Amino acid sequence: MGRYCLFLLSCRGEEMDNTIIRINGISKHFGKQQVLDKLTLDVEKNTMTSITGASGSGKTTLLNIIGTLEKADEGKVMVDGSDLTGFDRKAVCEYRNRMIGFVFQAFYLEPAFDVYRNIEVPLLIRNDKDKKDHKELITKILSEVGLESKIHAKVHELSGGEQQRVCIARALVGSPKILLCDEPCGNLDSANSRNIIRLLREQTRRDTTVIMVTHSREDAECSDRIVSLSDGRIVDDKDLR
Ligand SMILES: Nc1ncnc2c1ncn2[C@@H]1O[C@H](COP(=O)(O)OP(=O)(O)O)[C@@H](O)[C@H]1O
Ligand SMILES: [Mg+2]
Repeated sequence: MGRYCLFLLSCRGEEMDNTIIRINGISKHFGKQQVLDKLTLDVEKNTMTSITGASGSGKTTLLNIIGTLEKADEGKVMVDGSDLTGFDRKAVCEYRNRMIGFVFQAFYLEPAFDVYRNIEVPLLIRNDKDKKDHKELITKILSEVGLESKIHAKVHELSGGEQQRVCIARALVGSPKILLCDEPCGNLDSANSRNIIRLLREQTRRDTTVIMVTHSREDAECSDRIVSLSDGRIVDDKDLR
């Protein structure tokens, strides 16, 4: 076969590849402590992956590296074909804003803002000027998370489950390709957790890849795959599909 044909075939291979995150041999230290140890992981597009493991095993650090909140000391992280290690400041901001949605256990909502303004924050950071469009988008997203009646409520007027739904709405408003969730149900009772997991799961049908850190076996089992960490290494990787 000629060289040109081989080139075309290899291009086609790249295109058909369904991997959105390709982590290759990353390590991370904080001082003398090694938190991630040559970790390698591929994540398939539009799937939901749960990351489990004991406290201190490196789960949050792994999410933070994918979200560019932390940098690996060695190894390579490719997301949607781009090498994160080669990003300058501008590329990092663009990437976080356009590719990533974050959902945290502690919510981190702005208490002085109402629900609408909290969800609008990422759009304002993006510098999307047309506020008329914001209204339409935020109303639509609020109805998806079942909170349309709370649009002008203040954060303290909401239950924990409702606050977490606002966080998810805020993470989704920019149509991220990747949703990173760090113990999103950590502060919720089981009925609210079920709702949140269902909502996260739904995003995989909307061109979003979900990665969720969880301590709950039951929540993890709702995903497509469970990756278990211990001392910064993958010790188990279960496909549930
Ligand atoms: N910014 C930091 N500075 C120093 N140590 C850190 C920092 N972030 C995490 N660590 C340490 O790294 C280890 C792994 O942390 P983390 O990734 O948060 O674990 P997990 O989310 O699995 O509980 C812990 O021992 C933690 O104390
Ligand atoms: Mg953590």
